[in-house]
Amino acid sequence: MQLSIPFSPDQASSYSGPVDLLFAFLCVLTILFGTVITLLIIYFAIKYRRRHRNEVPGQIEGSMKLELLWSIIPFFISMGIFVWGSQLYYTMYHAPSEALEIYVVAKQWMWKFQHLDGQREINELHVPLGRKVKITMTTEDVIHSFFVPAFRVKLDVVPGKYSTVWFEATKPGRYHLFCAEYCGTGHSRMIGWIEVMEASEYQAWLAGGAAEGSLASSGEKLFQQLACITCHRSDAQGRGPVLQGLFGKEILLQNGGKVVADESYIRESILNPRAKIVAGFQPIMPTFQGQVSEEQLLQLVAYIKSIGGKPPGDAGVANPNATAPAAMKPAGQ
Ligand code: CUA
Repeated sequence: MQLSIPFSPDQASSYSGPVDLLFAFLCVLTILFGTVITLLIIYFAIKYRRRHRNEVPGQIEGSMKLELLWSIIPFFISMGIFVWGSQLYYTMYHAPSEALEIYVVAKQWMWKFQHLDGQREINELHVPLGRKVKITMTTEDVIHSFFVPAFRVKLDVVPGKYSTVWFEATKPGRYHLFCAEYCGTGHSRMIGWIEVMEASEYQAWLAGGAAEGSLASSGEKLFQQLACITCHRSDAQGRGPVLQGLFGKEILLQNGGKVVADESYIRESILNPRAKIVAGFQPIMPTFQGQVSEEQLLQLVAYIKSIGGKPPGDAGVANPNATAPAAMKPAGQ
């Protein structure tokens, strides 16, 4: 009988390999240095042991050459690890613009997923194989942490802000999703699955859901229900800034600063409108804190993204459905 102890979880995303390589390098380096240092300690302990009771050790002046050597070599090794690690980190946490977007709201004790086309899932997320997927997350209550070991993806979900991470699944299957931050009595039950499907299966799955319409269209309804539309008019005659074409642009603020109109800025502007006033406008917008849930905020953000931003043709986010081929849209859209 062969006993196998897996050294690491499944490698199921495009950066499982690079992350494992860095980890293996750190392990080998640690073992190497640990072994050499341990052996030297033993060797010196024997070589320089006290041989008789009255022995007095000779004075040692030290060696500049040695001191430099054991400072400079570790310096370059640690800087190398730093550059390697930060490159990997930068790639993981800066989603490419062509990625498929999925929104996540965490709460005690479940994971709620929203697809752009309107499908919702709880504790289970379906993603296509070989496609970049960007996850934008927030939480309704305390800090949670989105952890998919097989993808080497782990990111804290912090109240009051959007955290993003992306991955590209490279192997079909079902993979564990954990909450990796203690979040109360139900923490250990805050688990789920990521289901990686072949592109065709994924299309079929997508077509089976979404009775409520896309995320952006729910956002548009909300935009009217909350009467946002009375101030944010598209003809620039309203009391608030025009939101058409806004997303992703740099905006000049009243205090002379600048801000990029991204998801976080839109969220903040809805909940705390006075935080960053656009140049030329009055701080008259009331807060919507307590009136919209995190999920509704995501719908509003998706709507504002859908009416703004990058010119058509760009694989960006101008139209949330533009990134999906026609065949992937659910029927009725
Ligand atoms: Cu959520 Cu632990």
